[in-house]
Amino acid sequence: MEKKIQELVSKMTLEEKIGQMCQVDPGVFGSEEEVKEAVRNGQLGSLLNLIGAEKVNAIQKVAVEESRLGIPLMIGRDVIHGYRTIFPIPLGMAASWNEELVKEAAAIAAKEAASEGINWTFAPMIDVSRDPRWGRIAESGGEDPLINAMVARAMVQGFQGEDLSDPMTIAACAKHYIGYGAAEGGRDYNTTIIPDIYLYNVYLPSFRAAVDAGVATVMTAFNDINGIPASGHQRNVRGILKQDLGFDGFVVSDWASIQEMMAHGYAADEKHAAQLGLSAGVDMEMASRTYANHLQELLEEGKITMEWIDDAVKRILRVKFRLGLFDHPYVDESLADSVLVHPQHLTVARKLAEESMVLLKNNNDLLPLKKGTKVALIGPMVDQPYEQLGTWIFDGNENDSKSVLEAFYEYNGESNTFFAEGLKYTRDKSTKGFAEVEKAIAKSDVVVAVVGEEAILSGEAKSLAELDFVGAQNQLLQLAASKGKPVVMVVMSGRPGGLYKTQHLAGAILYAWHPGTMAGPALVNLIFGESVPSGKLPVTFPKGEGQAPIYYAHKMSGRPADSSSWTHIDDIPVKAVQHSLGNTNHTLDYGFTPLYPFGYGLSYTTFEYSDISLSSDKIKMGDVLKVFATITNTGKVQGTEIVQLYTRDLVGSYTRPVKELKDFRRVTLKPGESKTVTFELKTDELGFYLPDGNYVVEPGEFHVWIAPNAAEGLQSEFWLE
Ligand code: BGC
Repeated sequence: MEKKIQELVSKMTLEEKIGQMCQVDPGVFGSEEEVKEAVRNGQLGSLLNLIGAEKVNAIQKVAVEESRLGIPLMIGRDVIHGYRTIFPIPLGMAASWNEELVKEAAAIAAKEAASEGINWTFAPMIDVSRDPRWGRIAESGGEDPLINAMVARAMVQGFQGEDLSDPMTIAACAKHYIGYGAAEGGRDYNTTIIPDIYLYNVYLPSFRAAVDAGVATVMTAFNDINGIPASGHQRNVRGILKQDLGFDGFVVSDWASIQEMMAHGYAADEKHAAQLGLSAGVDMEMASRTYANHLQELLEEGKITMEWIDDAVKRILRVKFRLGLFDHPYVDESLADSVLVHPQHLTVARKLAEESMVLLKNNNDLLPLKKGTKVALIGPMVDQPYEQLGTWIFDGNENDSKSVLEAFYEYNGESNTFFAEGLKYTRDKSTKGFAEVEKAIAKSDVVVAVVGEEAILSGEAKSLAELDFVGAQNQLLQLAASKGKPVVMVVMSGRPGGLYKTQHLAGAILYAWHPGTMAGPALVNLIFGESVPSGKLPVTFPKGEGQAPIYYAHKMSGRPADSSSWTHIDDIPVKAVQHSLGNTNHTLDYGFTPLYPFGYGLSYTTFEYSDISLSSDKIKMGDVLKVFATITNTGKVQGTEIVQLYTRDLVGSYTRPVKELKDFRRVTLKPGESKTVTFELKTDELGFYLPDGNYVVEPGEFHVWIAPNAAEGLQSEFWLE
């Protein structure tokens, strides 16, 4: 293949080379004829947002049969959490902690997208996100490097399969490189300040995992990092990604992110932006045209090198060869009908939706309900086939969706289900519909309130300053709770939020994220106990936005807070003298704990953790430490527990997080059944990256936990000599 690439590059004119480095959206670029003409002249290497097998074949034919060298096009699209069959938003998928199932979902998304001519998706998004105000947290794997790495692996392997040249697989794109999730104040596109030690230990591991899994492409981010835009960051792209990690696919910019270096105040003009982009190692420019317009001139002026251009072109051709596009450029036009929303795809979507939902509260075993219970089904998300799909669903179709209402009618019967939405949509402030809600509650034994946020309130550019439920949803929940009947709250949302002021109103809370096409059946299965919840939070739930960013793997600080060392604002005596408050790392209003910790999630059964033990309490470099604990199902139904392994390095040459997730296992137990869970911890999992990128494992004392979440668990300790 490398020989073929070399041969092809040697035949290319400079204009053809630059053409390969350009990607446009045909709808924005010009008329159909203009697009064809540019393809015919070898001026475009890729298109995004063109779908439909026939349309794609028509333009591919121009590239393959009418351009001088016949180089096929890559056809890109944001296939983020499903193509037609929509799976839960990525944050929800992460909450399943089920790598195999996420992989299966990505493989289905690839198949459906491929049947419509797409050969490249701009996913997975693997930006570690620690701020629920940031709308794009919905698209991520949450706050933890290990969970984001799991999502990266699962999706890359799912999209790309064993063999990228299989026509049912598509190229993946790990994005957004790098640090995009650290946007200051949670405002999208905002500046990021990321010391190198955080870059290496927090933001890079998911990209490393994607590269190790063979990801075909990587996208640079919109943000600037410590003063340098990510799309112009030579050290990060050419240095760390390409050289250090050995990434041999190609790097694409984000939409116009090369041109936007002008707005950043980093590039003086378009020509300068092109110079900065290529120098950084961005191989293909998306949407803006600075490469097309200026690379030739920059080369003539000696501001960029032919070596850089050739390297970029080779990388792009390498991915096209890997995709098998030179051998089979065309899509089977008859495929889509038999592939899109196949019943088997819907089954996986339902299963993943079930596993993504997190049971946060279940007082007195309110859930599961018995089939046939008289239920008042209220709230603005009950019957929202579109909103339940979540952000980034360009090709999802609400007509495929099964809403909660439809699923309740089917399973629980129309005569037992009293529907009154109360609010027409989540931002609705009118309480006109509340009278109907009261009537529905009067006829029922239990209230199921489905609240949250509409799809458009999370995702790109949808940051929020407040995390409370929007519209009159808090009032609706108060009304529901005032009738003396048990309330089950279901939240469909793209971010953690809404619960601090409302959770006391509900006896049970199921956090459902935006669950996708099969939201209704998945929820009904959980609510009526046909399935047992197993999801765990991939992100810490703050009490309110004032706690953000909040994450479990924080530092100790010199004055750590604990329950004995913080004072609530109302407990401070009037005219208290300074120093009387317990000077620790907390806030007077919220204390120091989150609303729900990372890793948290309940089941319809209970699990007891006992007998943590280690293969040794002293290990040497290169040893493998075994950590054991017994998990017992002490409840009445079979359930799956996600058992988590955390460590803490007590003293480091740099301060270390109070806990770091190292591994986890899914353990399924029948009532009364016990299993010993064994984790194997290699000493090279106990180190960290220094600011210069070197990895060190430092001897000393470590704590280790086998735990149901980041705030609890059985603890032991060992020494690394
Ligand atoms: C987003 C990317 C996306 C691209 C193409 C940008 O606005 O940041 O994540 O892949 O658009 O649609």
